[in-house]
Formats: sequence, C-alpha cells, structure tokens
Amino acid sequence: MSRKPFIAGNWKMNMTVATGTKLIEELKPIVKEAKCDIALCVPAILIPAMVKAAKGSRIKIGAQNVHFADHGAFTGEISADMLKDYGIKFVIIGHSERRQYFGENNDTVNQRTLAALKAELTPIVCIGESLSERDGGKTEEVLTRQLEFGLHGVEDVKNVVIAYEPVWAIGTGKTATDEQAQETIKFIRKKLSKMFTVKDANRVRILYGGSMNAGNCKGLMAQPDIDGGLIGGASLKTDFAKIVNFNK
Ligand code: 13P
Repeated sequence: MSRKPFIAGNWKMNMTVATGTKLIEELKPIVKEAKCDIALCVPAILIPAMVKAAKGSRIKIGAQNVHFADHGAFTGEISADMLKDYGIKFVIIGHSERRQYFGENNDTVNQRTLAALKAELTPIVCIGESLSERDGGKTEEVLTRQLEFGLHGVEDVKNVVIAYEPVWAIGTGKTATDEQAQETIKFIRKKLSKMFTVKDANRVRILYGGSMNAGNCKGLMAQPDIDGGLIGGASLKTDFAKIVNFNK
C-alpha cells in the first residue's frame, strides 16, 4: 500500500511574524517540486501571518495544539473552529513537551484527538518512550498504552497521522538509528492493525521525529514503515527544504 510521504515542521515556541515570513518566502521556491505533503506547525498567534505567507505554495500551515471543547471558559486555549477559520488542516496533539511541561496525558490526548477528528482536522498524534523506559525494556508497553488510550473511540484511524518521537532523541542531536526507528514504527503499525484493521493500519502515515535533519533523513525515509518526519530544529531554517526534497 503506498502512502504519500509527509514532512511536517514543528516550530515549537520559535519565530516571529518577520522571521517566519522570511523563512517561508525562502522555502517556497525550493519546495515547489517536492513529491511529499508539506506542513509547518507554527505557534497559534503566527497562524494568520504564516497562512498568508504560504498562500499559493505547497506548504500547509498547521497548529501545535487544539482544545477538546467547542468553546467556553478555557483561558489560553484554541478551539478547532478557530483553527478552521484559517483553513488549518493539521494539528499536533500530545507532543512530549506538552506531556512533560503542561500536564498533557493519554486522556487529554484522546479528547483532543476526538475533537480534531470531529472537526475534520487531521491530528498528528505524538507518542514515544523516554530513555529510562527504553533502557528498561518498556518501549512497547509505553507505546501500546499511548496508542490504546490516545486513540480510544477513534472510528476512522486512516484520518490520523502518528508521529513516533522517542523523547531521548528530541532536540538532543541523538537520532534513533534507521533500524531502531523502523523496528519501532513497524511495531506501531502492527499494534494499529490489531486495534483497527490491517487495511486501515496500512493507510496510516507514521512519521519519525527526533533530531531528524538534512543529513539523516534519506536513511530514515528509505525504511518501509517510515512515511515522513516531524522536524523540530531543522524546520527553523532552509535546511527544511533538503528534508522535504529527501528523494532528489
Ligand atoms: P528536533 O527535531 O529538534 O529534535 O525536535 C523534534 C520534535 O520534537 C518535533 O516535534
């Protein structure tokens, strides 16, 4: 089953209107011929300006979070409808930084995922083990829990993108080896095929994230179960285009 590659950037809490606009202007011509889907998930307040900057290009602007309620007394949160006002399609959910610093857990990830799907947004659901969990042989157990709780009640899993981001590889320069990433993502797909159907699991795009860059993207993208990348640091510079053009 062929799945269209998907390279998504996660700007995290970086960039301003001026620097973000400049980067998108620089990226536009160099990603024109790319064969993959391309997204940049930007801070919420930059969405209007970045949507304007990316207009008419291959780059889709995405968000980094969405709240589970339609509206209401949730100070500081953003609803699906607010994202849809700007034509947003992709939204990151449950990034490990949100789990680590902002109390996100498998239950809130589940609620946000269901809310995104209900609003016809495509959630990029992040999962991944810590170093101590990997060293303790708990990787599969942790991922199983994140998938079973995080995707509970999801009817159409093919509308979900999964990002496997081992916490120990994020921002550390320590990428998982091609084999480690492939083996773990293959496990994730097998788990999805048990939770849903083999056919649907084979349609889910599963991205790798964690110190992915212009130098290591080719090897990772050559793995049969890796369908793309969720890129942090390297999405803040024009190097991002080299990842997008990984097959050139
Ligand atoms: P880095 O690419 O900076 O390691 O970040 C990965 C990440 O967390 C993407 O969501």
